[in-house]
Amino acid sequence: MTADTASPIQAVSSKDRVFIFDTTLRDGEQSAGASMTFEEKLQVAELLDAMGVDIIEAGFPIASVGDFEAVSEIARNTKTAVVAGLARAITADIARCGEAVRHARRPRIHTFVSTSPIHLKFQMNKSLDQVIEIIHTTVTQARGLVEDVEWSAMDATRTPIDDLCRCIEAAIRCGATTINLPDTVGYATPDEYEAMFRQVIERVPGADRVIFSAHCHDDLGLATANSLAALRGGARQVECTVNGLGERAGNAALEEIVMAIRTRGDRLPYVTGVKTPMLVQASRLVSSVSGFAVQYNKAIVGKNAFAHESGIHQDGMLKNTETYEIMRPEDVGVRATSLVMGKHSGRHAFKEKLKELGFDLGDNAMEDAFRRFKDLADRKKHVYDEDIEALVEDEMTSAGESVKVVALTVIAGTGGPQKAIITMDVNGTHVTKEANGTGPVDATFNAIKQIWPHEAKLSLYQVHAVTEGTDAQAEVSVRLEENGKIASGRGSDVDTLVASAKAYVSALNKLSVRRAKSAPAPADAEPVRVGERI
Ligand code: KIV
Ligand code: ZN
Repeated sequence: MTADTASPIQAVSSKDRVFIFDTTLRDGEQSAGASMTFEEKLQVAELLDAMGVDIIEAGFPIASVGDFEAVSEIARNTKTAVVAGLARAITADIARCGEAVRHARRPRIHTFVSTSPIHLKFQMNKSLDQVIEIIHTTVTQARGLVEDVEWSAMDATRTPIDDLCRCIEAAIRCGATTINLPDTVGYATPDEYEAMFRQVIERVPGADRVIFSAHCHDDLGLATANSLAALRGGARQVECTVNGLGERAGNAALEEIVMAIRTRGDRLPYVTGVKTPMLVQASRLVSSVSGFAVQYNKAIVGKNAFAHESGIHQDGMLKNTETYEIMRPEDVGVRATSLVMGKHSGRHAFKEKLKELGFDLGDNAMEDAFRRFKDLADRKKHVYDEDIEALVEDEMTSAGESVKVVALTVIAGTGGPQKAIITMDVNGTHVTKEANGTGPVDATFNAIKQIWPHEAKLSLYQVHAVTEGTDAQAEVSVRLEENGKIASGRGSDVDTLVASAKAYVSALNKLSVRRAKSAPAPADAEPVRVGERI
């Protein structure tokens, strides 16, 4: 086996190395409203790989043709990380997953089955012996396809320890190389999660040949604490997502785990391979493509995570930053807000700034972004890094869309009814319509509906200012729901209504992609039930 194809299991000899398994594109993406397009998934995977994540869980190949294609393409493109796909303990799932990940330099099949009495009784209607038989069949099948197989005991934290040990023993005997023990429902406390790892590692024959993994959900706000406790109990892989995106209250946040390990090496004697100065960039990208804004006071990557407002704190910071700062902002990729350029700045300076901000645009996209920057600089006195980031992200979002906002005029004010006249580019043809509404946003969305009729319901409309001042750009997030499908869109502009129209149209574009993406899976596959969450 060459170094390239080696399973991460070989690195276990370095006891302190913790493998970071990112599931933003699987557990994160499957959470309500966080769906991403094919291109967005590739973009996220590329960044995760460059950031030094060890394993990228790229998706759930059996779920749809779109998921299968995204996992296959990520497998082809990923340079360093292991690429994993998820599969239920079903023969067709594992075969389809194997097909998708086989393009990877380092492929992994991640298969799971429930082990807790409540899941066995109500979800699976199977006995523990039957589940052990299933583990035997499916892990053996997966090992026949790839060398690197992860097996997960779904709802492990509510499984009696003896039952759990029997299941793990079966999985190891059939060739699993990583054993994941998820706190699927976010119920565990750190002491019991640590004890669970300690006990199974002590008791299960062959435990020394595999890597144990933690996978925590944040229903009680304990996901990070539980993940770190698992490391104390002997786990050496942590499954997490950027910004803690994920089912319900989310998964353990990658940035929190990585920075806790980096900052508190005295209590947490481990290392990860993550390049922490890329954390903020990853956070922004995931927030942008998922449509989930990061709360201002979010640990590590929130806008206020390094802001010191109180006078006492500011005084201390001026004397010595360590008085109130346990991490350096630059260690996570926070730059001091800087005034960028004005309307006299040229193409070269703009290009350099994009490079500094971590954007690598092709020639056409660069020209479009530059044109928009000039337009913005004409309208806004000070252009900051945040403005450039919002502008480029907006440009990148709309680049692949077949329907775009071209022009918008809104008549608003106390008189009413408010009226919007909108022109949109629909596959290259300009169409103009107008509509009234109970407010300017309502009128704008009604006018869009005239051009693009649909039944989607607006379930979220959120505005935030990119920088300070009344001339700040507005960043609008919109979430639409249609027949159980959810899509989010974002738009930014100095005009809040234009930003709203862009966000709405972007969500409609994504919704149409989602309709296409949910094309049926192969005929032999057991369908993934609507509303089924894994
Ligand atoms: O939370 C969970 O149990 C999961 C498994 C599929 C690993 O996401
Ligand atoms: Zn999960």
